[in-house]
Amino acid sequence: MTTDASAKPAPRASSLPVKPRIYSGIQPTGRPHLGNDLGAIRNYVAMQDKYEAIYCIVDYHALTHVHDPELLRRQTLEMAAALIALGLDPKRCTVFVQSDRPEVTELCWLFNTVTPVGWLQRTPTYKEKRANQPDDVNHGLLTYPVLQAADIALPKASLVPVGKDQAAHLELSREIVRAFNARYGETFPEPQAVYTEAPVVLGTDGVKKMSKSIGNTIEVLAEPDVIRRQIMSMVTDTERIKRSDPGRPQVCNVCQMHRHFGPDYEAIWDGERTATTGCVDTKKLLAERIIAHYAPAREKYTELMADLPKLRAILDEGAERIRPIAEATMTEVRERMGLR
Ligand code: TYM
Repeated sequence: MTTDASAKPAPRASSLPVKPRIYSGIQPTGRPHLGNDLGAIRNYVAMQDKYEAIYCIVDYHALTHVHDPELLRRQTLEMAAALIALGLDPKRCTVFVQSDRPEVTELCWLFNTVTPVGWLQRTPTYKEKRANQPDDVNHGLLTYPVLQAADIALPKASLVPVGKDQAAHLELSREIVRAFNARYGETFPEPQAVYTEAPVVLGTDGVKKMSKSIGNTIEVLAEPDVIRRQIMSMVTDTERIKRSDPGRPQVCNVCQMHRHFGPDYEAIWDGERTATTGCVDTKKLLAERIIAHYAPAREKYTELMADLPKLRAILDEGAERIRPIAEATMTEVRERMGLR
């Protein structure tokens, strides 16, 4: 587990939580992919006992690109079930849906007033999204990182487990909080990112980061045949043409993934380097290991999705549990800013 070295320590303020609080958000994209799990969810699980941990399915953020209400509702529940199936225990951490705690939208508006537009226009993800959805450059895309800063600041979280693709958003969150603290007095800690050992997981194309919008994912809770198909489509070492060609395990995404799913990564590396194993062998082994690794979670996910009222009750309880935290922050913020 590593933290972002550029982050400053949290300011001392009397209203900060005593036990460090962690927060992270994930979009309701349905069942998560390997990048979500290796890059972030593993740390959500690892950190739930050490800290006061709050995890959120960010459906307000998703509205910047999902415009089908039924799909949004279904994928929100799927992501909630997946997080619990992958190891979040609602007794040891809080899991809730962003729109169940609408205080965050008020804090987002208040943060808008300390955020220069130029910061948002320069955000790499804004530029990317503007290019990806040219017919739908809604204002939410621009304000997206302000809402993210509000998410983190509402519970006064100081640590944020995320993948490296969120580094720019986290930097912006720190800047927004800093701007608020400078204008209205020390109120929020400056949040630090916490990374796993796999902060950037490449997709099946072996080039771009794994992402549902690119379509290069390995869906960890999918049916075994889907996982097999996704893994067999992975690009390995593009310079290894024949099976007898020695491979370059350091650039082979399949070999790199074995690092997380078995004790014999070095043997797999050697097998590829000396051409004793072929790419297909390594992929087949990876597929079976990933299927076996996620089998218990897949079963738990199916169970949770079969009892939606119970799942909704867990999420309702999560939102209620953080109500006093959200209300206390908003009371303090309104007071500091001169609102009634
Ligand atoms: P999202 O939903 O795209 O991704 C959820 C988490 O998974 C990580 N991740 C990856 N890590 C490594 N390699 C990959 N290929 C990969 N793909 C995804 C992400 O870094 C993230 O940690 N903006 C956020 C959601 C958000 C949020 C927040 C996060 C909203 N508010 C407050 C932290 C704190 C997002 O879209 O993540």
